[in-house]
Amino acid sequence: MIDKDRIPQHIAIIMDGNGRWAEARGLNRSRGHQAGAESVDKITSECARLGVKFLTLYTFSTENWNRPAAEVDAIMKLLLSNLVEETFMNNNVRLRIVGDRSRVSENVIQAVEEMEERTAQNDRMTLVLAFSYSSRWEITDAMRKIAARVKAGTLCPDDINEHTVAQELDSSFAPDPELIIRTGGEQRISNFLLWQSAYSELYFTPTFWPDFNEQSLHAAIEDYQHRERRFGKTSAQVNNL
Ligand code: IPE
Ligand code: IPE
Ligand code: MG
Repeated sequence: MIDKDRIPQHIAIIMDGNGRWAEARGLNRSRGHQAGAESVDKITSECARLGVKFLTLYTFSTENWNRPAAEVDAIMKLLLSNLVEETFMNNNVRLRIVGDRSRVSENVIQAVEEMEERTAQNDRMTLVLAFSYSSRWEITDAMRKIAARVKAGTLCPDDINEHTVAQELDSSFAPDPELIIRTGGEQRISNFLLWQSAYSELYFTPTFWPDFNEQSLHAAIEDYQHRERRFGKTSAQVNNL
């Protein structure tokens, strides 16, 4: 059973395994992404219900631009068809996108930004889609902004600290995720939230993303709740012994 009083504020998920899920069924990889979109709906509703405040989903990485054009196209279309205003409104969920918008086509960006605006007042949970995202891109972009502030004379290099960097990240509005889940069996980070994951608890499951359901989410949260988060201290210190 999960402890309702210790739900992570921010859960981030690397949604992997759509392609293998489809291939195992003799289906086109795009069908796997379609099935994955249903998991997105399920997990978003369940996180909102549990009281999670931020859910970040790794939807499309900078590196994913290198996939075959037909697959990239299918993912873009899927994103567009899944931006349903009613779903966000019914769940009182706000949408925010993080990533390199300059590489995304105009019609996709327009639809996304419209939904960000329309849902801006929703305050039960924020759904963050990491789209055309990579953490190295995000950190590099932050560095560029910091350099510009120094050049403009509004920031002194000696005053640059962790907070300055965190503030300039595209995802600066969200707290660091307490829990990062990766589905699909790979045990790597694939350029996701490198800065923000400094002290995140990592949870890997072989379950392909289209098979990941409410029960799987509960299992991940339960596992997280059994971890001791020490942040460099000793066990005795964190337990006030
Ligand atoms: C994750 O599933 C979704 C995206 C990267 C867009 P994959 O498409 O990577 O699925 P596998 O890893 O090939 O099974
Ligand atoms: C990571 O999945 C990106 C997303 C889930 C969007 P990939 O399937 O692209 O990761 P790698 O390249 O196998 O590490
Ligand atoms: Mg993959």
